[in-house]
Amino acid sequence: MPTEELRDVAARYLMQTYARQPISIVRGRGTKVYDLEGREYIDFVGGIAVNILGHGHPDLVHAIQRQAALLIHTSNLYYTEPQVKLARMLVDHSFADRVFFCNSGAEANEAAIKLARRYSYDKYGAGRHEIITMTNSFHGRTMATITATGQEKVQKGFEPLMPGFAYAPFNDFGAIEGMVNEKTAAIMLEPIQGEGGVHIANRPYLKNLRELCTQKDILLVFDEVQTGMGRTGTLFAYEQLGVEPDIMTLAKGLGGGMPIGACLATESVAAVFTPGSHASTFGGNPLACAAALTVCRVLLEGSVLDQAKRMGEYLAKGLADCKERYRVVRDVRGLGLLQGLELEIDAKAVVADCLARGVLVNATSERVLRFVPPLVITQAEIDTLIETLTMIFKRRAVSEKDTHH
Ligand SMILES: Cc1ncc(COP(=O)(O)O)c(C=O)c1O
Repeated sequence: MPTEELRDVAARYLMQTYARQPISIVRGRGTKVYDLEGREYIDFVGGIAVNILGHGHPDLVHAIQRQAALLIHTSNLYYTEPQVKLARMLVDHSFADRVFFCNSGAEANEAAIKLARRYSYDKYGAGRHEIITMTNSFHGRTMATITATGQEKVQKGFEPLMPGFAYAPFNDFGAIEGMVNEKTAAIMLEPIQGEGGVHIANRPYLKNLRELCTQKDILLVFDEVQTGMGRTGTLFAYEQLGVEPDIMTLAKGLGGGMPIGACLATESVAAVFTPGSHASTFGGNPLACAAALTVCRVLLEGSVLDQAKRMGEYLAKGLADCKERYRVVRDVRGLGLLQGLELEIDAKAVVADCLARGVLVNATSERVLRFVPPLVITQAEIDTLIETLTMIFKRRAVSEKDTHH
């Protein structure tokens, strides 16, 4: 279907929940995608931090093809090897002892919220159920996770929200210390707020949170849906930030493009989930798990994590140079290959300019460009991104001057 027609049909038949870029992507290879007209784009969006091995990674394609031919789905009424092996792999490489599988980030966070409430209920009885999350956070689009999300714009019009949530300013330990009370069951945050504009939790803050949580038996929940699976240069962001959570959620990169989410926890916390307490029909199905297992193997056995770290530093440096040179750039923030560029201007216009020049980037919050490419992005591709941004900022600086004189 020609792109124009596809847009018209989409406008007629899809619920209009997304403002889409005007291209139809038909194919991907490595760090590049191709539209219907054959135009090539360097992909700095990576399916929003999902395609960590790039597009069409041969090991991933092979694993999916092989498993699809063998068994796609059979439910959690039976054992399947890919699921059990994936759980063991995640446990072997994290703080956690047990894993629950589901299908998305929001669903992983739902599991985390239920797990935290049940832990507190079993140990302390009813009433100690409150979860403190952060302003400007993002945890998903289900009712519980929009409530957990500390941004009015995702909640408005969907009230009544879920009871039992409170919001603290990010990176402000004094504030959260003042909010914790006899009702508090958990503190939940992203180690780096992704959707909220790329803000990193600082180490002393996290250390204080960890101590407070341990002291009061409050569960510390890290939402690593965006930061996990090598995005920041280590398998999980918490490894670089000096503290371990009690519960961690994953999705996005975990399946390298196959939909899968996971909620990981320590033994004493995980133990409160017993048969019947939580479930998901598709959760951990063999096809998704075979994909995720391959993603984990490639990350852990190859040089991808190292590359992500090096390329992350290279990208951060390129963006920092942009900040030095162009007034329109206000700030650069990030870790590894999760980088944000805060602008003086609307980021959406820059997204469109980049698209026209063959580079996919994404705006998160009004004025922040976010870069979450496949972890196999190369130095030359980062150079192209920086040149493209430079060209755009230069043109904008000139036109700004023109309008001022
Ligand atoms: C930190 C974080 N948590 C949760 C989610 C929700 O994940 P999903 O869209 O898979 O439900 C996102 C998605 O952007 C995210 O960035």
